[in-house]
Amino acid sequence: MDLYEYQAKHLFGKHHVPVTAGEVCYSPDAVHEATRKIGSAVVVKAQVKTGGRGKAGGVKLAQTPDEATEKSRAIFGLDIKGHVVRRILVTPASDIAEEYYVSFLLDRANRAFLAMASVEGGMDIEEVAATKPEALARIRVDALRGVTPDKAREIVEAAKFPAKVADQVADILVNLWTVMVDEDATLVEVNPLVLTPDGQVLALDGKVTLDDNAHYRHASHADFIDREGTDPIELRAKDLDLNYVKLDGEVGIIGNGAGLVMSTLDVVAYAGEEFGGVKPANFLDIGGGASAEVMANGLDIVLNDPQVEAVFVNVFGGITACDAVANGVLQALEMLQSKGAPLTKPIVARIDGNNAVEGRAILTAADHPLIELVDTMDDAARRVAQLAAERKARK
Ligand SMILES: Nc1ncnc2c1ncn2[C@@H]1O[C@H](COP(=O)(O)OP(=O)(O)OP(=O)(O)O)[C@@H](O)[C@H]1O
Ligand SMILES: [Mg+2]
Repeated sequence: MDLYEYQAKHLFGKHHVPVTAGEVCYSPDAVHEATRKIGSAVVVKAQVKTGGRGKAGGVKLAQTPDEATEKSRAIFGLDIKGHVVRRILVTPASDIAEEYYVSFLLDRANRAFLAMASVEGGMDIEEVAATKPEALARIRVDALRGVTPDKAREIVEAAKFPAKVADQVADILVNLWTVMVDEDATLVEVNPLVLTPDGQVLALDGKVTLDDNAHYRHASHADFIDREGTDPIELRAKDLDLNYVKLDGEVGIIGNGAGLVMSTLDVVAYAGEEFGGVKPANFLDIGGGASAEVMANGLDIVLNDPQVEAVFVNVFGGITACDAVANGVLQALEMLQSKGAPLTKPIVARIDGNNAVEGRAILTAADHPLIELVDTMDDAARRVAQLAAERKARK
């Protein structure tokens, strides 16, 4: 989960990384009030989960509450790379002597973390990285050793931070590393980290990505979930602990194992071309040991997507054998029916792997009016695409 700047700064503050205070506002009136309370020049900043806000006109300096309000009117509703601004951070304007860049990120390829730092921070860091790579220090951080004061010193020296800020920057790096570890983040970035004319170093911007797999051990992170900006079906799936991503298509997909689901999306998209371009409606991986309840939750989510016309249940029996999966599907449909859910969308099932013969026999014997059993993945993809296209055409 990506955080908004104001949320990232909240975590920075919690871990003693210096930031300026600020207030999130949802209306120009609130901007007026927040600026009045700050009582000095402010910066009004679009809060969107994408970069390049300043260049898009989403970051403006204002001297008075009236000016801040007026500037905020131009920022609310602004479309920044497809993200519409609905919240604005009002924060005291800082005098800036120098702008730096620091970040930590998970470096999966090298099974380590990577620290990056530069004394040429600010809005053009991407350009610095592209045209002057030597100005961006990259230092490997061992996952077990982390960023000790010595490691922080090494980063500060590699990036050639001036001596006058070396101690402050090193302290900030150690504290940012605690944000990374204690909050289970996969990215922590500060751009710009600034030096004020009176010699203080502070984070004027912040970007944090949290690891969703660690969500369960951070009760406080639930507050960060952006309910208004998230698809309602995705929100329900998240509440049910399902690995679900909404896509723009008509064929609901349920599979076990991320790899299988990914390839199912491909075969369905391919098969759909023949039927007027029907596409997968979602990614849903119900995992290896899927119980009837998980299957029921999955079917519930997928069947309730109004865009879905037909569902493809693609299961490869492993730890949970196919007979258990077949019973799970039937029980799931019963559970949904008993809850009064109107079940009308056809379900194409392909089950293979451990105990496939037994699993298919269970579905054949049940003779459920909505379930159609198809032997191979390709044939099942064609059939479900055809069913979805037919139902779509009838609308
Ligand atoms: N509180 C502040 N006081 C003074 N200047 C600021 C303040 N916040 C931001 N700025 C200036 O605005 C520039 C852009 O701000 P910021 O880094 O927050 O947005 P951005 O970099 O354009 O957005 P993104 O990080 O999403 O790409 C900063 O480099 C800095 O010069
Ligand atoms: Mg920035």
